[in-house]
Amino acid sequence: MRRKEVKMKKAGIIGAMEIEVARLKEMMTEVTVTEKASMEFNEGLLNGKPVVVVRSGIGKVNAGICTQILVDVFGVDCVINTGVAGSLRKEINIGDIVISTDAVQHDMDVTALGYTKGQIPQIDVFAFPADERMREVAAEACREVNPEIQVFSGRVLSGDQFVSDKELKKTLTETLDGCCTEMEGGAIAQAAYLNGIPYVILRAISDKADDSATMDYPEFEKKAAQHCVNLTQEMVKRL
Ligand code: ADE
Repeated sequence: MRRKEVKMKKAGIIGAMEIEVARLKEMMTEVTVTEKASMEFNEGLLNGKPVVVVRSGIGKVNAGICTQILVDVFGVDCVINTGVAGSLRKEINIGDIVISTDAVQHDMDVTALGYTKGQIPQIDVFAFPADERMREVAAEACREVNPEIQVFSGRVLSGDQFVSDKELKKTLTETLDGCCTEMEGGAIAQAAYLNGIPYVILRAISDKADDSATMDYPEFEKKAAQHCVNLTQEMVKRL
């Protein structure tokens, strides 16, 4: 399916956890809250731009449901996924930001029937491409608000799994060419693709997705989430 050109009228902004969306909600004005599928959709203005900010809950099913509601009920015409992730690369450190080039669901496995790991049968792409203009706007906004942080562009790998194992990390990096791993972006990307709307995933690194991840994650998640909040609110201004 062809992507539509971005000319943003209303952006959906999804974070899986409250710390990823709380500050954005505080910054909003003219807010109306609607509950649907046990999620609170906060519709209003962020930096004067129409947005719907929502905490989807964790994992791919929550994220897919949330994205479809944003499209069907709120009529968003683009989706930004903001949050934290585990790094899959040596050079990407805790606190750095990854802007998605595309997204793959690393736990999609129909290899028994001859498909490549990650390929969803009957879908005509392997990786869901992120919108180029949204990526560019995100990179510009990031340089402005987080100048001290490294920003990378690359593939986001999503699965219903907290990755904290160096062997799995190695496999994900080598076989699926991932830059970071998290638990929602790939589902949001798929829902955006099926609906023909542009999306981008913005993730700040909270851990290294290896044996140190369970120690690092609680220590760094708040700070990393704040980097993404800074970026998201600035990006929205420029869309
Ligand atoms: N979100 C943040 N760190 C993660 C990890 N290591 N695996 C999956 N999701 C994450």
